[in-house]
Amino acid sequence: MRILVLHGPNLNLLGRREPGVYGVVPLPEINQLLTQEAACLGEDSDGQPVVLDCRQSNHEGVLVDWIQEAWGQFEGLLINPGAYTHTSVALRDAIAGVALPTVEVHLSNIHRREEFRHHSYIAPVAIGQISGFGADSYLLGLRALVSHLRNGAVKN
Ligand code: DQA
Repeated sequence: MRILVLHGPNLNLLGRREPGVYGVVPLPEINQLLTQEAACLGEDSDGQPVVLDCRQSNHEGVLVDWIQEAWGQFEGLLINPGAYTHTSVALRDAIAGVALPTVEVHLSNIHRREEFRHHSYIAPVAIGQISGFGADSYLLGLRALVSHLRNGAVKN
């Protein structure tokens, strides 16, 4: 199973950017932790391992291009859209357009921060959102996405 992992704007600064809000784990280490987590998730029923492709961009159009190109190449999308969470109809439309099962993650709990961070354009086109657990949000998000892809949607 191939999973595209996208990090949006300013997440390349993790480790030195507002550590009190976003923690001290740098982005390469988050990607490494994700890769280890993917290995722990074992194989799909067809014997395929969980393989990640982790990318970061500060540019909305680049993220849109990557999401479009993911069509037919990846089974799922794990994304921290950064500030584009709160502004980008284009990212939302790209995810809806390719109908790629998506989990949205945030290091900080966006719902207990400034009002402008409470709204996500991505959440309505995502399976779910994990927010507030620091670097663990990514690991929890990956587990949730793989579980969803392997076992199907939770009925609620
Ligand atoms: C963030 C939350 C966003 O509001 C912010 O703009 C970010 C990071 C998070 O991971 O907590 O850049 O997505």
